[in-house]
Amino acid sequence: MITNRHVVLKKPPSGMPRAADFEVLPCPMPAAPPPDGLLVRVIALSMDPYLGGRLRGRHMGEPAPAPGEQLPGFAVAEILESDSEKFKTGEFIVTETGWTRYAAIPATGARTVAQGSIPISAHLGVLGMPGLTAWAGVTQLAKVGPDDIFVVDAAAGAVGGTAGQIAKNLGARAIGIAGGGAKNTLVTTSYGFDACIDYRADGWQQKLKTATAPGPTVHFENVGETVLQTVFPMLQTYGRVVLCGLAEHYHSDGNPPLLPVGPIVGKRAAIYGLVVYDFYDRLHEWVTLATPWIESKKLVFHEDASDGLDSAPAQFERMLRGQHLGKAIVRVASEKP
Ligand SMILES: NC(=O)c1ccc[n+]([C@@H]2O[C@H](COP(=O)([O-])OP(=O)(O)OC[C@H]3O[C@@H](n4cnc5c(N)ncnc54)[C@H](OP(=O)(O)O)[C@@H]3O)[C@@H](O)[C@H]2O)c1
Repeated sequence: MITNRHVVLKKPPSGMPRAADFEVLPCPMPAAPPPDGLLVRVIALSMDPYLGGRLRGRHMGEPAPAPGEQLPGFAVAEILESDSEKFKTGEFIVTETGWTRYAAIPATGARTVAQGSIPISAHLGVLGMPGLTAWAGVTQLAKVGPDDIFVVDAAAGAVGGTAGQIAKNLGARAIGIAGGGAKNTLVTTSYGFDACIDYRADGWQQKLKTATAPGPTVHFENVGETVLQTVFPMLQTYGRVVLCGLAEHYHSDGNPPLLPVGPIVGKRAAIYGLVVYDFYDRLHEWVTLATPWIESKKLVFHEDASDGLDSAPAQFERMLRGQHLGKAIVRVASEKP
């Protein structure tokens, strides 16, 4: 007999959510899709930094789940039964299923993804929302080209790793900033950045200055004030800064991060705020560009996967602490039933 399980919020997190804030419980197996909706089997769950903020009611005005409610979140899933004209049984989709094994969900917002040479879970990372974020920031906002010196932090992650590789593929020099030796090795050896600086090591600011000489022309910010305040003085005149993520601030209740207003004027700098939702209708452009890059190894991605829905709370905490390498996911079931 098929049984269902899901992950619920046990208590509202204070500060950074922890595995102990969640509970994995049995739940009813949905019998059929809702009208115009889908009955799906979850294959892989996406672990994303924004979810930490969402659980505390701090993401784009979306309400936080109440204790006892299932966690929200995106997944790759297989359609077991469709009541929608747009989707067929047996197709794979990316959609918001929540943290569960089986779900009966609306078809709205789902998109089909094809099985092929690239693992289907890549549609949660490099070929999905994080990859689109990188593409939007690099090509649509900063408009990176061959003359650029491109810097990105959280460079081992799904967004940062993809952003640097796009910049390189467009002819720019790409320098990453990442925490720890394993991440730095991934960024230079596997992703092929020109250099990566470990910001946990002494003297990293001087190393960054040397690696980016005569100064970055583009900085892609994923982390927050600590790195931004270091890189900004190094930026060349008319430099561009993409403000993408603030990972170091999501769980702190201290003062919000500050921008160096005077130096922005002095540098004649352009600052771009990035919200990936603005680019969702252009996802096909990114997938069309990225797929041959991945197949020819011009774009490399790395997944940090845990196994089974029960591992989701611990994997989520690891991801929020930055202990993962690459794109964090949970493999809930195999693609083959
Ligand atoms: N604007 C948008 O529309 C949009 C869309 C998607 C993602 N984002 C943002 O883009 C950034 C990267 O996303 P991702 O999915 O690729 O995540 P990720 O890079 O895999 O994970 C976040 C990374 O932030 C770094 N970090 C530094 N200080 C931290 C702290 N105090 N707490 C936690 N992490 C810290 C860690 O890398 P190191 O150890 O290397 O420092 C960590 O691995 C995130 O800030 C995310 O929220 C924004």
